[in-house]
Amino acid sequence: STPAKITCVEDFRQLAERRVPRMFYDYADSGSWTESTYRANEADFHKIKFRQRVAVDISKRSLRSSMIGIDVAMPVAIAPTGLTGMQHADGEILGAKAAERFGIPFTLSTMSICSIEDIAKHTSQPFWFQLYVMRDRDFMERLIDRAKAANCSALVLTLDLQVLGQRHKDIKNGLSTPPKPTLANLINLATKPRWCMNMLGTKRRSFGNIVGHAKGVSDLSSLSSWTAEQFDPALCWADIEWIKKRWGGKLVLKGIMDAQDARLAVESGADALIVSNHGGRQLDGAPSSISALPGIAQAVGKEIEVWMDGGIRSGQDVIRAVALGAKGTMVGRAFLYSLGAMGEAGVYRCLQMLANEMDVTMGFCGRTDIHDLDRSILLNPDVFD
Ligand code: FNR
Repeated sequence: STPAKITCVEDFRQLAERRVPRMFYDYADSGSWTESTYRANEADFHKIKFRQRVAVDISKRSLRSSMIGIDVAMPVAIAPTGLTGMQHADGEILGAKAAERFGIPFTLSTMSICSIEDIAKHTSQPFWFQLYVMRDRDFMERLIDRAKAANCSALVLTLDLQVLGQRHKDIKNGLSTPPKPTLANLINLATKPRWCMNMLGTKRRSFGNIVGHAKGVSDLSSLSSWTAEQFDPALCWADIEWIKKRWGGKLVLKGIMDAQDARLAVESGADALIVSNHGGRQLDGAPSSISALPGIAQAVGKEIEVWMDGGIRSGQDVIRAVALGAKGTMVGRAFLYSLGAMGEAGVYRCLQMLANEMDVTMGFCGRTDIHDLDRSILLNPDVFD
């Protein structure tokens, strides 16, 4: 398939499926347990219907907006995703460069392959850093300090990983630290020469934020025991307080699915919250993010910004989310598929596609400015009330 034939995120997914080794492709394209929440994230977007308007002058249109006071070319940020440098060699650097060129924020995961310092070295605009709460508080403090030193403009604190949702495919593929790939996976690897060549061309093949930084972690096997016990099940609101204090900058809380938790997020003094079920990778059986958005947006009002992620596969989905109260959105898999398919050029192209779909959809609704989108552009705005 040539780039010219790629017209939508689904095309990127198919190309990524061909180019990325099975165990890493599966890691991206899966949800926990029965994957019912993973599927609902996408499917529920299609329940939302637009009100088409005609004969309105829509010749000048703008998607420019802001997220926590940061100007964005469109209200979309790249979501933090672990192991991104395994979808494509140096994947986090390529993603950050594409996002910077396009004018949207890039979020680096704690569990990334390229390190905070790698991203800072290859970009000139501030990026965002996503933090997990880990038992080793010294290490967390150092991570926060490293993000500060790298001039990160927001800390995205993920709250929905105190325990791990099980993904069957990862276990079957032997995707663990250290990896224990099956014979089938190894044979599959031999069919991905482009990926292998790129990977041989980089030294970044392990968790760059952790190896050599966390106490006692120097290689893959010490990393294995470290990650197994680090995610902290004791995380509570008091921890968020000290993290906020230590960080001192813009704080975004990720993984809120409940109106009561949303109120606590407001009280915590965060600048934004993200309605997110971790892309259907944690609590299977939780509602889709888009269906949880209206209730949370209502509970929060204008006190802090409400964003959402999960299931966005087109610019139309972003418009639906904005109409239902999201000031911003994040994309995970749309980013990963385009990266795995075509590297930096793929990610840039994917962002252009999302913008174009948003722009045209907004026009069909008879609106010219992203700030003018609300429930009135929908036929059934109460579909999830
Ligand atoms: C994630 N997500 C995630 N979130 C986070 O806070 N830290 C992380 O390290 C990861 N890792 C990760 C890996 C992969 C492969 C995926 C697909 C997702 C969740 C991510 O930030 C986001 O919430 C979802 O990806 C949004 O859903 P979509 O856009 O992928 O449908």
